[in-house]
Amino acid sequence: MTADSDAISPRDDDSSKHKIGEIAERTLRDLEADFADLKERAQQLLSERVYLENEVSQQKKKVNRLEDEVRQLRMPPHVIGNIQDILEDDRAVVRSSNGTIFLVSLNRNLDSDLLKPGARVALNQDSLSVVDVLSDAWDPLVMGAEMIDRPETTYEDMGGVEEQIALIKESIELPLLNPAAFKNFGIEPPKGVLLVGPPGCGKTMLAKAVASSTECTFIRLVASELAQKYIGEGGRMVRELFDLARERAPAIIFIDEIDAIGAKRLDSATSGDREVQRTLMQLLAELDGFDALDDVKLIAATNRPDILDEALLRPGRFDRIIEIPLPNDEGRKAILEINMSGMPTTKGVRIGHLVEETKGFSGAELKALVVEGGMSAIRNNRKKATKDDFEKALTTVKEKRTEGRGSAPSDLWN
Ligand SMILES: Nc1ncnc2c1ncn2[C@@H]1O[C@H](COP(=O)(O)OP(=O)(O)O)[C@@H](O)[C@H]1O
Ligand SMILES: [Mg+2]
Repeated sequence: MTADSDAISPRDDDSSKHKIGEIAERTLRDLEADFADLKERAQQLLSERVYLENEVSQQKKKVNRLEDEVRQLRMPPHVIGNIQDILEDDRAVVRSSNGTIFLVSLNRNLDSDLLKPGARVALNQDSLSVVDVLSDAWDPLVMGAEMIDRPETTYEDMGGVEEQIALIKESIELPLLNPAAFKNFGIEPPKGVLLVGPPGCGKTMLAKAVASSTECTFIRLVASELAQKYIGEGGRMVRELFDLARERAPAIIFIDEIDAIGAKRLDSATSGDREVQRTLMQLLAELDGFDALDDVKLIAATNRPDILDEALLRPGRFDRIIEIPLPNDEGRKAILEINMSGMPTTKGVRIGHLVEETKGFSGAELKALVVEGGMSAIRNNRKKATKDDFEKALTTVKEKRTEGRGSAPSDLWN
């Protein structure tokens, strides 16, 4: 056996050694491969970890920000008021925005230089103590009235109002540009100009054209925005309007549809009416308060000069009244030409005929006519507007005119 095994074993030994070596080699290779895999995986996990850590810190920041926001949103609102008087012992008299006057305490940390009568302040809702001073706070409505972007309307866009343009230039633009000339001749330029005339004849448009042609600040407001709910607010807004104009001078204030606050003072009973009157009084006071040569000018417009308070028309207020009547034949021709300048039409469309057919039309109605004519051509898939399109448009606009009659103040002007 031994001999046998002895005889066999060296060969056996050899091959098993060989086998073991092979296995070991394979295992080693496997292990090496595994090791490489694991190393790679470890690397991956490491970078993932860095990424996640980053993410966590970002999310933490976000949470902080949102918590901050929540805190801000949860904060009770503050009441806005104006300081009327500063007393000793850190106390002040304030008038809250609804008009009630309170004696309240002041936050000691506030800059005492800012705490002056007239300053706009934030009040704690419960104690009404002054917690903050709001500097330079214009009423947003007044602030928003300043026209930052100049309107595109120019004098060239208007037809048949050459005389009115000349008048407004001479009474508004000239004194602002060259006050010295007026001083030399010893004449006072008008402080304000009132544009009157039937609706749709270009009052608002003319004021816009003035705004785009002058370099000065233009402040525009529709008078109904001044008729406020709270007593005293309208008057305050008028005051702020003029303050803003003076600060940004040279400036033009344009009050459109002034009849909303400038109607005759009747012995009216409702407090709303009385408030409107107070607003008007403040406007008159402001008008009287500035000098004709100051670089603030006022333009107002109305369809209803018949109901305006005479006080507005007294010398030193609206010294100049510019009427923009319904356009005559020439005016209508000019307005039609301006509005049709960009429209392709066939030869059959004759402006002369349209001028004849539109007696009594306002500028707005003439524009509507041109728009209707163009619409009809588009509807019928035509490249050019035809006589037919304009005949249809004439009927449509005329129908609208008769429908609109009755309540329309334009009756006054015919
Ligand atoms: N003289 C005019 N020249 C050209 N278009 C005019 C003229 N008058 C009125 N329009 C047109 O009518 C529109 C309304 O005019 P608008 O100035 O608002 O009238 P209102 O006198 O009632 O203030 C203007 O936007 C313009 O398209
Ligand atoms: Mg208008």
